[in-house]
Amino acid sequence: MIEFARSSIGKKVLVALAGLFLCLFLVTHLAGNLFLLVGENAFNHYAEALEKNPLLIVAEFGLAALFLIHILVSLQVKYEDRRARPIGYLQQKSKGGSSWGSRTMIFSGLLLLVFLVVHIKTFKFGDAGEGLFRLVVTAFQNKFYVAFYVLAMSALGLHLSHGFQSAFQTLGVEHPGYTPWIKKAGCFFSALIAGGFALLPLWAYFNLGGH
Ligand code: HEM
Repeated sequence: MIEFARSSIGKKVLVALAGLFLCLFLVTHLAGNLFLLVGENAFNHYAEALEKNPLLIVAEFGLAALFLIHILVSLQVKYEDRRARPIGYLQQKSKGGSSWGSRTMIFSGLLLLVFLVVHIKTFKFGDAGEGLFRLVVTAFQNKFYVAFYVLAMSALGLHLSHGFQSAFQTLGVEHPGYTPWIKKAGCFFSALIAGGFALLPLWAYFNLGGH
């Protein structure tokens, strides 16, 4: 097992699996955040129920491990690829060899990392004395913060549009019959998740702040 995890393909499998589990987190996180649209009480109740759950700490450690594996191992794979092939693929320079999403994975990923640090600092460690709803909605009254969120969610859409189908490819799920469907599902999933998350700051800014 350890030998496999250390091999080049083993590392890619780890990145793919961690990425797919993170996709599950995104679905549950977006579903929870949609309570914002229902109202202050609904969102605060949801947040309190989550915080009271004794399993939350286990889930948080699991989530942190997934992010760490996904980020650190993908950077290692990238570094090793660079060392093995300093000039890069010829086809990468030509049109059609790889998608824009695939070539920008490192940039969209790094922007998402910056987003994650800012996001957790503001919402997880921010002052939620008046309830989490107030904390979130107040942060989204700043137009620069909203613009940063929308930019980061565009990066998330781009990252997922390549990452989703690429993960299945890495795991060996490839077949002329269903690969096109996995690609379509990846496009749909990335648009839904990125669009859903981007909607929230825009909704809070335009709907609740009197702008
Ligand atoms: C508009 C979009 C988003 C909103 C409104 C939002 C809201 C929140 C809030 C309120 C918390 C704090 C939860 C608590 O203290 O109980 C939180 C935590 C978190 N968010 Fe988001 N989030 C958004 C997008 C994202 C995205 C796109 C990601 C990942 C790429 C993400 C990753 C996280 C993580 C990892 C935590 C910490 C979870 C924990 O330790 O409990 N969020 N988010």
